[in-house]
Amino acid sequence: MRTTPDQLRAMKQRGERIPMLTAYEYSMASILDAAGVPLLLVGDTMGMVVLGYDSTLPVTLEDIIRHSQAVVRGTKRAMVIADLPFLTFQVSREETMRNAGRLMKEAGVQAVKLEGGRRVADTVHALVEAGIPVMGHLGLTPQSVNATGGFKVQGKTEAAARTLLEDAALLEQAGAFSIVLELVPTELAALITERVSIPTIGIGAGPHCDGEVQVIHDILGLFPDFTPKHTRRYAEMGKIILDAATAYVADVRTHAFPTAKQSTSMDAAVIERLRSEQREAAE
Ligand code: KIV
Repeated sequence: MRTTPDQLRAMKQRGERIPMLTAYEYSMASILDAAGVPLLLVGDTMGMVVLGYDSTLPVTLEDIIRHSQAVVRGTKRAMVIADLPFLTFQVSREETMRNAGRLMKEAGVQAVKLEGGRRVADTVHALVEAGIPVMGHLGLTPQSVNATGGFKVQGKTEAAARTLLEDAALLEQAGAFSIVLELVPTELAALITERVSIPTIGIGAGPHCDGEVQVIHDILGLFPDFTPKHTRRYAEMGKIILDAATAYVADVRTHAFPTAKQSTSMDAAVIERLRSEQREAAE
């Protein structure tokens, strides 16, 4: 049985912290599922860490569907949440429903996530009414990076903090089962967490949220372009892969790999016949 929204709410009530990571493909998802990560997000961060764009904006619904299918196939216990990418939930109610429905039906995820507060509250309500669990996303909303002027901490002024508090309340009223708080000051994230009954999941929002989400490439040291301040490296996989690939290149160049151990043989008489036919043809 996969993690459910009710279980998450109960975890908040018990004060049990909720770990969440991003996942984009089958093998990694199955390892993270085996590690007991209860929430896996097929985030549009894939645009940057998997596809090499400089923002999340070019990510398409098809990208998210394809990668979500792989993550769902790789997992048994985690709730898989798929991001609704830029412009898949802003154009019209009908289009939003169709797009979120495709994530549920074709990708087989258990929930969707979308960015925004007041302006998406009605959309969240409609999705929830249709039976689609929704995770909200407030604070830094990377799909609006061109409007917010970069990847900056949000909610520092009193007015901005009040807006975030209101947005969180509106998402809760609309039926969201949880809210990601990205790049929000620690004190404000704590206040939002106290005010709403649904779990908050922080990223760059301090230690007082109900849970924490990180991009898997960041915690494994797999993304070479930059390391956000809010992350912690739990492994240096980039270095491990670099060393392994360097050793492989050297072994292939020097005939150290492959050897008889990684190869198979055939009947010597057959190969000898083939060789002699080749010699005769060449004469
Ligand atoms: O797309 C993503 O990976 C996210 C997380 C950073 C929360 O939205």
